[in-house]
Amino acid sequence: MAKVTISVIKADIGGYVGHSSSHPDILKLAEKNLEKAKSKSLLLDFCVMRCGDDLELIMTHRKGEENSEIHKLAWDTFIDCTELAKKMKLYGAGQDILSDAFSGNVKGMGPGVAEMEFEERKSDPVIIFMADKTSPGAWNFPLYKIFADPFNTAGLVIDPHIHDGFKFEVLDVYKQETVIFSAPEEIYDMLVFIGAKEYYIIRRVWRKKDNEIASVSSTQKLALIAGKYVGKDDPVLIVRAQSGFPAVGEVLEGFAFPYLVAGWMRGSHHGPFMPCSFKDANPTRFDGPPRVIAAGFQIAEDGKLIGPRDMFDDPSFDRARRMANEVTDYMRRHGPFEPHRLPLHDMEYTTLPNVRKKLQGRFKKEK
Ligand code: F6R
Ligand code: MG
Ligand code: MG
Repeated sequence: MAKVTISVIKADIGGYVGHSSSHPDILKLAEKNLEKAKSKSLLLDFCVMRCGDDLELIMTHRKGEENSEIHKLAWDTFIDCTELAKKMKLYGAGQDILSDAFSGNVKGMGPGVAEMEFEERKSDPVIIFMADKTSPGAWNFPLYKIFADPFNTAGLVIDPHIHDGFKFEVLDVYKQETVIFSAPEEIYDMLVFIGAKEYYIIRRVWRKKDNEIASVSSTQKLALIAGKYVGKDDPVLIVRAQSGFPAVGEVLEGFAFPYLVAGWMRGSHHGPFMPCSFKDANPTRFDGPPRVIAAGFQIAEDGKLIGPRDMFDDPSFDRARRMANEVTDYMRRHGPFEPHRLPLHDMEYTTLPNVRKKLQGRFKKEK
């Protein structure tokens, strides 16, 4: 069986209005570009989506991960869309395009990337999560719930294919080092790290039994690339489901609790991660709260994307949304105080260093 690669490459190339959403003409232009690539057989299939102000290119092909033709296609599409966004004076046009010299891979140039290659199964349900107003560490909590917590995923107890558990690749974003943990045996060690979600990010998950890829996230941190705050990373996540992976409902269950993530207004606040339908992915209150949408696909013959199904468009997530709104009120009342505002270290890329410099000499040593 031929292998198929799913590449999800995304960028904020301009917001409508402010940073709240995307303009439909931008999506149309991206579709036109990818349609052309499909007609030339570079792509098997594609789906253009958006979450808040982020343009999401979901592509299937046979070229494997980190392929320069695929990355160039995404890059050129972002450049074309940026040009249109500039013409329309959309807000922050070209925000995530941090360089103008493409050299074969969009990694490190602003866009976020998650890619996985696998052999097509008889039937392959895949869920692509897309977030706005948060950072890649936002996936740590649900990935742990989905792949390591039997109170979330009954299959870890019941399904012999996943009873052995999963392996997690964790990236230290500051040192750019990775470590692999094996769950369930090493969950306590792993939690020491992944609980610090702005420092350690789960990048890949494999089924332990046969090393089959189960999940891949985008881990690009814009502030570390640019050296200053230029917008939040707004990450994506690919998760495979069913027949030897967690069921679709077990995957979605990982998002039923709107836990606190970093991002929101000016990328500098903690707020609840609100699961919402495609049409509600327009963060407006205090530029938030942070949002996540879930696009379900069946991967059919020859990488065809049957979908997207709007997986959070379900009243069973109403309570999570209500709770997220209550937490929004509660957190907002903290104003500029932690833990609503991010801890000092995470403010390093914003105004903090300038204020510190301005006050140099005013701080007097305690006698
Ligand atoms: C967060 C985000 C927004 C902006 C805010 C200020 O990821 O994009 O909250 O940080 O609207 O934006 P500027 O500085 O462009 O006026
Ligand atoms: Mg933006
Ligand atoms: Mg965004």
